[in-house]
Amino acid sequence: MSKKFYITTPIYYPSASPHLGHAYCTTMCDIIARGKRMRGFDTYFLTGLDEHGEKIEDNAKAAGVTPQEFVDGVAVKFLNLWKLMDITNDDFIRTTQPRHYETVQKIFSRFIQQGDVYLSAYKGWYCVHEESYWTETQVGEKHLCPECGRPCEQKEEPAYFFHCDKFVPNLLRYYDENPKFIVPEGRKAEMVNNFIKPGLNDLCVSRTTFDWGIPVKEAPGHVVYVWLDALTNYITALGYLQKDDTRFQKYWMDPECEIVHVIGADITRFHTIYWPMFLEALNLRKPNRVFVHGLMMMKDGKMSKSKGNTVYAEPLVARYGVDAVRYYLATEIIFGQDGRFTPEDFVARINVDLANNLGNLLNRTVSMIDKYFGGVIPAYEGELNDLDKGLRETAEKTIKSYEILNDDLKVTEAYASVMEMVGAANKYIEQSAPWALAKDPSKKKELESCMAHLASVIFLAGMMLSPILVTKSNKIFDQLGIPADMRTYEKSLQFRAISGLKVQKGEQLFPRLDDKAETDYIKDLMAAPKEKAAA
Ligand code: MSP
Repeated sequence: MSKKFYITTPIYYPSASPHLGHAYCTTMCDIIARGKRMRGFDTYFLTGLDEHGEKIEDNAKAAGVTPQEFVDGVAVKFLNLWKLMDITNDDFIRTTQPRHYETVQKIFSRFIQQGDVYLSAYKGWYCVHEESYWTETQVGEKHLCPECGRPCEQKEEPAYFFHCDKFVPNLLRYYDENPKFIVPEGRKAEMVNNFIKPGLNDLCVSRTTFDWGIPVKEAPGHVVYVWLDALTNYITALGYLQKDDTRFQKYWMDPECEIVHVIGADITRFHTIYWPMFLEALNLRKPNRVFVHGLMMMKDGKMSKSKGNTVYAEPLVARYGVDAVRYYLATEIIFGQDGRFTPEDFVARINVDLANNLGNLLNRTVSMIDKYFGGVIPAYEGELNDLDKGLRETAEKTIKSYEILNDDLKVTEAYASVMEMVGAANKYIEQSAPWALAKDPSKKKELESCMAHLASVIFLAGMMLSPILVTKSNKIFDQLGIPADMRTYEKSLQFRAISGLKVQKGEQLFPRLDDKAETDYIKDLMAAPKEKAAA
């Protein structure tokens, strides 16, 4: 039985065209999901859209269309982006779909029946943007939202409340017993100290001041609070409380299935405090991990429409290809930390890592195998010399760290170790000096071993990089002459698997970019009006 793995992205608000920050989170999840599948995990990968709420209703009004028409329009943009980024999600949930809508109503009814929610009135400072109420202390004298800094307005409405107090002790116990529930760990302290310790207010979970939401069956005029609605997508998509709940049983109810939610830091509170409480109220297991990645920032801070500093994936993919953009996202910003997009770093990443390090290794190796062995990857026998042993040790260590780091969701670090191995292989060429070995007939065995080791390391690197380099990894395998049925992770771990294959020199994997010209090109894109850049 293969191990199971369920990974989710946040469901995005379809309020505007998705930018590179949205692409970041989904691409990272895709890289993780592809990596798991490659290693034989039974993997389920979910993404989708969070389509209800006042903000969407307002946007639709401004656009002169119904909320449903509005979200349908933006949904196409998200779907197109995922296609462009070659995202391999197994499902795409939209919270306006009946499967979700109906299940949320059942969940809410259950909360009412169990007494987990109660009817009262809410008065407080409300941030429309964050769809959150805040207390007097939280908004301070200027009445600004502590999350986004926008002005809050005072509001009062009848509302249902979720009894948080009942669930706090178990939540804290879950944190203690599962030290990796919130990663990076610093985020946990933030939740405990800033939100739980000061006393968690009961959460307001219905609204009466707008309509665009899932109606509470028991209380006409009330719609379910958008965060309660949204968080449950992770189980409604699997079929929870629906006729066919096979997937729910398989990926949620099996304690052996690892469940990971990947989110941005801005929504940690909802995923690590309220979501586990809702699950507890439903008597369901909690996810194993909520992995909090950082934000992709720009030179002048957070990407935002109002600042006009937003970067979109489309023009980057059009010019540099999907592999380069995915590689940049995975390796430049340490997964779990904030990062900053700069055109200079983008170009340098491609040139240094992909054109110079990986591209050169492939190029040199294929050329040498052509030159010295008529294009056939040699077999080798006998004792390995110290350099061969060193390269093998590096490869074996890389395999271990690649798996451990990936399982720990340290994706950036995992790929750094793969690229170090690629660097070590380039160095191995310098040290082995195959051009000298080729001149000395007594060194034939060493030359064979050297070429075979290089080809194997490239195969291994190509395979490990394949979750990122979704098109170019196949170009690597084409150049090594590896047939389709041999392009598996298992085969890439075997050092002698590809001896006897015939290499085929191909185009350069990643042509070197002109630093200045391309940096200027990207700067221009960033300065371009939003519509042009996203078009
Ligand atoms: N709809 C809620 C999530 C509900 S999940 C049950 C929401 N949507 S959102 O569209 O505003 O943001 C969703 C996620 O997009 C963020 O948590 C983050 O993962 C990602 N990002 C949006 N902008 C980003 C950056 N600039 N950088 C990195 N990730 C970004 O919140």
